[in-house]
Amino acid sequence: MVIVPSKRVASIGAYAFAAVDEKVAELKEKGITPIDFGVGDYADPTPEFIRQACKDNIDRHATDGYPSYVGSLEFRTAAANWLKKRFGVSIDPKTQIASTIGSKEGVFNFAEAVINPGEYAIVPSPGYPPYKRGTLFAEGKSHFVAVNHDNRCEYDLDSIPADVRQQARIMWITTPNSPTGHVASMDWLKRAYEFCQANDIILASDEAYSELYFEDAPHSALELGEDNNYDGILQFHSLSKRSIMTGWRVGWVAGDKRIVDIFKKVKTNIDSGTPNFVQDAAVAALGDEKHVEDLRKLVKEKRDLICSALKKLGLPDCTPPASLYIWQKAPEGMSGEDFATLLIEKAHCVTTPGEWLSDEVKGDNPGAGHVRFAMVPSLEEVKQAAERIAALKL
Ligand SMILES: Cc1ncc(COP(=O)(O)O)c(C=O)c1O
Repeated sequence: MVIVPSKRVASIGAYAFAAVDEKVAELKEKGITPIDFGVGDYADPTPEFIRQACKDNIDRHATDGYPSYVGSLEFRTAAANWLKKRFGVSIDPKTQIASTIGSKEGVFNFAEAVINPGEYAIVPSPGYPPYKRGTLFAEGKSHFVAVNHDNRCEYDLDSIPADVRQQARIMWITTPNSPTGHVASMDWLKRAYEFCQANDIILASDEAYSELYFEDAPHSALELGEDNNYDGILQFHSLSKRSIMTGWRVGWVAGDKRIVDIFKKVKTNIDSGTPNFVQDAAVAALGDEKHVEDLRKLVKEKRDLICSALKKLGLPDCTPPASLYIWQKAPEGMSGEDFATLLIEKAHCVTTPGEWLSDEVKGDNPGAGHVRFAMVPSLEEVKQAAERIAALKL
């Protein structure tokens, strides 16, 4: 028989990392293992006390069966307590929060919750692909807005046309921003929220990187709420980047109860929640800040090594104030793909060309001429990489 993918699946382009994978395979054939700055997934281990919490709790769940779709009350309370401590906001664990299988699940499925066919999501470009893919699978449309070093991820709200304002249901923001590494100011967050309120658009704030900062601690969109009411605001958060728990699949959405309720309805039809022993490990992780401080220091050390090597090459200083990424401008006249190829071939470092992470905005590709370094290899590897990069001849 003939097997054909659905139209939606078919409309998604080829796997963007295939060309890099080929180059990596070529190097491996020659006995060289490149240092991988590609995907934002740490080489460092999940802290020991978090793994121990999982082990300590597993027997408690011997007969639990399926976990709760929306997370145990213990987990939701721990997340709410952490939000209070970190951002000073009061979230009711019973009604204003639901667990996710990591933010990716939440982000992708959220479009299904609120977008009708033909309606819009406002999506930063470059940006996290599930914003647009979730929209596509909900048969909505993405309106892309550029984020870059010039606007420091505070995209141009005035550029959003009237028809998009009328038909948009979600406005995605990522702060700290991936991949630019910038942090949205409270002033811009206020303006973004006013824009959303004036147009009945949900402000969906992806704050997966909120704890990876090297200057002032970033704000949360939840701080825009008043009197424990988060009208039209939904925060997406996750333990993945904060606690080196990418493989554990645990996060949450928090904010407007009405939106959380709709999200829960979608979720109960799609998955069966994060395992209880993983939620217990997440509760332990949320109760500790020491490992987060250590991680911040480690990522900063990696950032400084790579940024100073790049500066030695005479490239523009793109040192990020936050996030897990360096959004480096390529040498004059080189595309991001050219520079990524040079970095693989001559420095044996895998990075992501900016063009692959972005969609056109008014005929321009805002990611063009950049590469993204995810600061995820071990410190030893990053030191090696920095030496090799500094020795490049451009
Ligand atoms: C901007 C952004 N948001 C959300 C996520 C999702 O993380 P997770 O699904 O592991 O929680 C990622 C992962 O790389 C990301 O880059």
